[in-house]
Amino acid sequence: MSDTLEIQPRAQAADADSSQPGVHAPPLFSSTPAAVDWSTPAPPHPGLSGALRARLQREFLPRWTHAWGGRFFADGRMPGPDAIRLDGNDYLSISGHPQIIAAQIEALRHYASFISQSSIFQKATQPSARLEAELARWLEAPDAVLCQSGYAANLGLLQVIAEPGSPVYIDALAHMSLWEGVRAAGACARPFRHNSPEHLARCIRAHGPGLVVVDAVYSTTGALCPLAEIVEVAERGGCMIVVDESHSLGTHGPQGRGLCVALGLSHRVHFITASLAKAFAGRAGFFTLPRELRPYLMVSSFPNVFSSCLAPYEVIGLQATLEVVQGADALRQRLSALTADLRRHLTSLRYPVEQGSEQIIALEAGPEPATLALRDQLEARGVFGAVFCAPATTRDRAMVRLTLSAGLTDPEMQRLKDVFTEIAPSVQPWNWPIARRQRLHRKEADTV
Ligand SMILES: Cc1ncc(COP(=O)(O)O)c(C=O)c1O
Repeated sequence: MSDTLEIQPRAQAADADSSQPGVHAPPLFSSTPAAVDWSTPAPPHPGLSGALRARLQREFLPRWTHAWGGRFFADGRMPGPDAIRLDGNDYLSISGHPQIIAAQIEALRHYASFISQSSIFQKATQPSARLEAELARWLEAPDAVLCQSGYAANLGLLQVIAEPGSPVYIDALAHMSLWEGVRAAGACARPFRHNSPEHLARCIRAHGPGLVVVDAVYSTTGALCPLAEIVEVAERGGCMIVVDESHSLGTHGPQGRGLCVALGLSHRVHFITASLAKAFAGRAGFFTLPRELRPYLMVSSFPNVFSSCLAPYEVIGLQATLEVVQGADALRQRLSALTADLRRHLTSLRYPVEQGSEQIIALEAGPEPATLALRDQLEARGVFGAVFCAPATTRDRAMVRLTLSAGLTDPEMQRLKDVFTEIAPSVQPWNWPIARRQRLHRKEADTV
């Protein structure tokens, strides 16, 4: 429990609407996320407005104090040298690859000084133009636009292609950046049930043609999108479709070209987007598009207009990464085999992991305190996943998310399995709310 200030009594919260900064107000928290050294005195600051402080007290302090036990939820143990790291997205274990590092160093030397500017001003001779052309060719798309991140790609694309006031049919578990793009466009989000082409079809029948938005592999659960059916429904409803391939690019399909190519759907999907911070282990994103849209998009997509583009060494590093990813079939096969092996083992121990099938595995303990307890049990045994909670999940569906990578060794896999076997009696995964829901569904299905 925290030794911080108690939640302010109602009388003191009376200045909630005041816009006056609370200069003399005592601090709300006695610690902050690990990146901040709380022991060094902070320089003077004018303080928060009464309204903001009241919101923190009302909406956040109880969560901090009670659900998180008075410390930031992500601050677990420090991983030691023999830790098994399942908290990144470097699925093919290629970060630090000598070919990529060499390309980056060479680019830093070659482009020792460059003009940092919005990509509106990029010329066709610059490295980004070549990478865009290669990414487009790789995905069998007419053109591609590089962005500063996957978030910027989704936000910037949807902001332009969604019609203000028109329906955007978005899978309930689609990534937040896609929802934010719908919001930025002023379009009308019409969420459909996760991975349900039937519900999507009903929504389109009710509200008319619009834009369909899905992830190829869902980032919290590792569920695979039933893409062929979704595309079918979108076409029948006269909709354009956007597929976020952040967690399938590099890991799925021939040469890692993703799910759309693997399923022969690339010519039927209007836009593919992806973060290059997952299997590409970089810091960028991109989307594909028809050539006729490019000029309009370049002057309308706000991240493209109002934010600086990638540095040349980043682009050239990604160019080298593309080559490494294309040649990594053996790593893709290993990742797929490790995924099947660990999923089998977890299922045999009654961990309810069947909401997904791919390299992302959700251990959905449910309430935040149970999830943090699970995290602590794993970390005490040297296994590090990532805690996902609201706003990345709904409030009572927090999870420890595990992401596998091809670089996991056989002894590490054995250790992992031993850890899950060892902690099962104390974390009791068969009693997690999702396990109970799944049992109920199975029972209902059996009685129908
Ligand atoms: C499905 C999906 N799309 C987009 C993004 C955003 O990518 P980035 O981290 O490059 O901004 C993420 C990252 O979490 C993601 O999982």
